[in-house]
Amino acid sequence: MDEREEQQTPASQPGPVQRGGWQATVLTLFPEMFPGPLGLSLAGKALNSGVWSLKTLDIRDFARDKHRSVDDTPFGGGTGMVMRPDVVDAALAAVADRPGPRLYLSPRGRRFDQARAKALAAEPGTVIVCGRYEGLDERVIAARGLEEVSLGDFVLSGGEPAALAMMDAVIRLLPGVMGAADGLAEESFEEGLLEYPLYTQPRDWNGMAVPEVLTSGHHANVKAWRRREAETVTRERRPDLWARYRKSKDEAQGR
Ligand SMILES: C[S@@+](CC[C@H](N)C(=O)[O-])C[C@H]1O[C@@H](n2cnc3c(N)ncnc32)[C@H](O)[C@@H]1O
Repeated sequence: MDEREEQQTPASQPGPVQRGGWQATVLTLFPEMFPGPLGLSLAGKALNSGVWSLKTLDIRDFARDKHRSVDDTPFGGGTGMVMRPDVVDAALAAVADRPGPRLYLSPRGRRFDQARAKALAAEPGTVIVCGRYEGLDERVIAARGLEEVSLGDFVLSGGEPAALAMMDAVIRLLPGVMGAADGLAEESFEEGLLEYPLYTQPRDWNGMAVPEVLTSGHHANVKAWRRREAETVTRERRPDLWARYRKSKDEAQGR
């Protein structure tokens, strides 16, 4: 068994808290989807080296009837099924010892963004509930104080892909996951701007040359060019971000 397998607890029994690192706990009807892509590349290496650990619980293991039902029809009628509060509550009770905020991935939630990723990376971990069907019974969301988090204004068939994307955004911010801390500082959203355009070899490609300033070796000019480009691309593509950036700049200058 390799370390990564050891760090996962596929069954419903909550195992001992793993050594150190950021502790992700995922409640799902599809535990086999985890760690999925997070078992590869940078996140996979970090998982194997204990920078973060993962515990998955199969919500179905907490069903109480012989059919192992986790859902039922909605009161008031309508299509689809709703996840039962008693079953989800029992799964949450089983991870009471796991650290961090309790999140429920939901299109109704507050939109996930880089600031939230940073805040979650500063926590000791997080517990994530992945919905399926039409979602969770409202009462368990209220009773457990679950914070609803959305990945965007679209509807996925389940919370698992959203959980993987959210965890990826957090894991890459954990100390020791990315090589150069400087790389992070220049990424999209770090200063409220989208990233400037990137270029690499070859210098001339299909008749298109790399902007001269980038090969000038003049660091101050490169920096100024990148800032201008980042501002331009943000203004053109994301008026919402641009307005916020301008406001914070004005405030910083006391205007
Ligand atoms: C088919 S969706 C349910 C959609 C729900 N009936 C609605 O209209 O808002 C099933 C599950 O996928 C997850 N999901 C779907 N879209 C999502 C999004 N944009 N962000 C986060 N989770 C999402 C949630 O966990 C949700 O409970």
